[in-house]
Amino acid sequence: RWGKPLVVAIDGPSGTGKSSVSRETALRLHAAYLDTGAMYRAVTWHCLDTGVDLADAAAIENACEEVDLAISTNPDDQKVSVGGRDVTEAIREPGISKAVSAVATTLGARAELIRRQKQTTADSGRRIVAEGRDITTVVAPGAEVRILLTASEEPRLRRRGLQLGGTQSAEALKEQVLARDAKDSAVVNFQEAADGVFTVDSSHLDFEETVDAVLAVIRRATR
Ligand code: DC
Repeated sequence: RWGKPLVVAIDGPSGTGKSSVSRETALRLHAAYLDTGAMYRAVTWHCLDTGVDLADAAAIENACEEVDLAISTNPDDQKVSVGGRDVTEAIREPGISKAVSAVATTLGARAELIRRQKQTTADSGRRIVAEGRDITTVVAPGAEVRILLTASEEPRLRRRGLQLGGTQSAEALKEQVLARDAKDSAVVNFQEAADGVFTVDSSHLDFEETVDAVLAVIRRATR
């Protein structure tokens, strides 16, 4: 049934359950999975590791073009490496989350990562679920299924807080999450669904229900 090439594009802000829901969706479809946010994080890790000035757009772009970045598309084994070093855990550190917008808002860096992401998704002829902020609009606008996963502010902040293990005050968390979304929104609109993109609102859904809602959209779109 799912044997043919199929691209499922999922966008949305953080705290909607986007990554875990996309990964689970890929597992259920026996599809590959691409976490494009992890690529922005890996480039950021590389810049910090090699002392690239994050205020220097040309230097970031350059780092992005030459970085030896490998990302697994196996939903069962998410591994990210830079220059052969395993950075899977390191890219989730708060220091990376804080710095990553510098890379994500550098247009030259985006162009390079988008090029790589297109190769892995739209141009690959495989069955894949790709997730990020601009997959439905830029990376794979021709995807068979395009979904915007949204949630209102309160549940988003609550989920991010749980992910971080309750180590931050509510104020700090709110400031962090909203500030990052605001910065990222400057270069890509992931708050509204583009034409032909289905919206799934996870505000009142738990994890399983969100996965079911996404699978229902996919079933309808590929019927
Ligand atoms: O989803 P995430 O938190 O891992 O994303 C990391 C950063 O990369 C975030 O600041 C948004 C940005 N990003 C982007 O601009 N475009 C994408 N396709 C994916 C992520």
